Amino acid sequence: MIPILRTVADLRAIVRGWKAQGQTVGVVPTMGALHDGHLSLVQAAKAGCDRVIVTIFVNPKQFNNPSDLAKYPRTEEADAALLAPLQVDTVFSPNPDEVYPKGFATTVSVAGVAAPLEGSLRQGHFDGVATVVTKLFGMTRADRAYFGQKDWQQLQVVRRMVADLNLPVEIIGCETFRETDGLAMSSRNVRLTASARQIAPALHAGMRAASAALRAGAPQEVALTQAEATIRAAGFEDVEYLTFRDADTLDTSTDLSRPLRLLAAAWIGGVRLIDNIAV
Ligand code: PAF
Repeated sequence: MIPILRTVADLRAIVRGWKAQGQTVGVVPTMGALHDGHLSLVQAAKAGCDRVIVTIFVNPKQFNNPSDLAKYPRTEEADAALLAPLQVDTVFSPNPDEVYPKGFATTVSVAGVAAPLEGSLRQGHFDGVATVVTKLFGMTRADRAYFGQKDWQQLQVVRRMVADLNLPVEIIGCETFRETDGLAMSSRNVRLTASARQIAPALHAGMRAASAALRAGAPQEVALTQAEATIRAAGFEDVEYLTFRDADTLDTSTDLSRPLRLLAAAWIGGVRLIDNIAV
């Protein structure tokens, strides 16, 4: 079995040994409930680094809604079993007190790219992400960190923070892993009922249609309104946002001469799904 470390001191000791031998360290930060998307990040880390750490920590600071935090799936044993065949070097799964000991008083806050979309809908979310990711980088001393493109805005927030704070870690963004019907893999998908799971791929299908329409010359309002209507007609209760954005700045944009992204958040069966695609 892969060793599961609980304390920063134990993690530091093992990493110190690796670094002394000149080995490179990769980290895959996760909140557990691992799926094939996470495993693809681990594989990328294995291919790019001598040693790989997977962190599993359901970070209370990034949940603006206590019931969402309470409902977040915690499946550590199953996660360890999934990681075993991939020969990860260690799993770091600390308790909240280890990460946020008594007296903890620092917040890392990114402006600009963290402000719109998830940032405005989930107050404090990206402060929580930026704070814990900074801490995980410090704890693991990783040379490279692997994040999924599924959380596109999070990836841009982490990139901005690393550049702004001169953190000595390279950020690798890996392709979104999808089910065969197009649904982006997410730890939240386990909360979908059978009927909601059937409807869920309509989000990705609607997004692809909107992207194709914009590329074919449709005005963005038309492309987005039609896609939202299809997504709602499929059974989604709400579409919180469906929006074309500059891929790097996340400013509203339909400029096809620059990398463009379509981002969405929508509710199905009481579960909030997010997704994004290149336009
Ligand atoms: O993407 C996630 O699972 C989390 O936001 C992360 C990066 C592990 C920080 O808690």
